[in-house]
Amino acid sequence: MFVLSSEENKLEHIAIIMDGNGRWAKKRGLPRTLGHRKGAEVVKEICQAAEKAGIKYLTLYAFSTENWKRSAEEVNALMDLLRQYLKSDLKELQDHGVCIRFIGERHMLAPDIVESMAKLEEETAQNDKMTLCVALSYGSRQEIVHAARRVAELAKRGDINIEDIDEKLFSDMLYTQGIPDPDILIRTSGEQRISNYLLWQLAYTEFFFTDTLWPDFNEKLLLEIIDSYKSRERRYGKVKAQ
Ligand code: IPE
Ligand code: IPE
Ligand code: MG
Repeated sequence: MFVLSSEENKLEHIAIIMDGNGRWAKKRGLPRTLGHRKGAEVVKEICQAAEKAGIKYLTLYAFSTENWKRSAEEVNALMDLLRQYLKSDLKELQDHGVCIRFIGERHMLAPDIVESMAKLEEETAQNDKMTLCVALSYGSRQEIVHAARRVAELAKRGDINIEDIDEKLFSDMLYTQGIPDPDILIRTSGEQRISNYLLWQLAYTEFFFTDTLWPDFNEKLLLEIIDSYKSRERRYGKVKAQ
C-alpha cells in the first residue's frame, strides 16, 4: 500500500509519544485508569495500521522513568494493564509476523513482568514483518548514561581504544541497538516536548504534534501524518537541492 517513489522521503521508522490518556478520561468524568485502558486499545489499531502502511519499525512510549513518580494507584493500574497485554499478545504478534523489543530500565519493573517481556522477545525474535519497540520504564538520559558506562567498561578492559569510540559504536551501546533512527516522531495531546524520549536517536527526525488525545488517535490521522511527511524536506544540514 505504501510505496515510495525515488524522490520521496524514506520511511521505515515511526516513534510515538502516546500522551493524553488522563485528560481523555477527565473530560468524560472517568478515572484516569480508564483512559489508559482505552489508550491500550488504540495501540493495537495503530500497530496494525503501521504494519499495513509498510512501516518496518514502530517505537511506542508506554511508560517513562519519570512516570514512576505518579500515584501508586495509577502505577499499579498501568502495570496490571501491561501484565494483561503481555500475557495475551503472543498469538497476535505471531499472526502478524511482528517482532517485539522492549527498551528501558528493566531493573525497576516487577520480576514477573521482566520475565514475560523476555519471553515475548525470545518467541517473536524471528518475525520480520515489523519490529514493535516498546519503551517501558524508559528514560533517554538514563539510556545514554548506561551506554557511556558500557563504553568505559570496554575501554577499561582494553577491548577498545579511546579512538575507536565513534557514533556507530556509541549507538550500538544504546537499548535501540540495530534499530534505525526514527524518520517521524508523533506526539499526541498538544504538548510540544520530548519528555526524555530517544534524545540521541531523534537528532534528524521530523516532528509532528497533534492536539488529538491518544485515545482518540486513529489510522486516518496516522496516514495523514505519513502523507504530510512525504512533502517535508530533510536536509541534514545540507543546502536545499536545486
Ligand atoms: C500518557 O497519558 C500515558 C502515560 C504517560 C503512561 P497521560 O497519563 O500522560 O495523560 P495526560 O497527559 O495526563 O492527559
Ligand atoms: C510522556 O508523557 C511519557 C509517555 C507518554 C509514556 P508524560 O505525560 O509523562 O510527559 P510530561 O510529564 O507531560 O512531560
Ligand atoms: Mg501526559
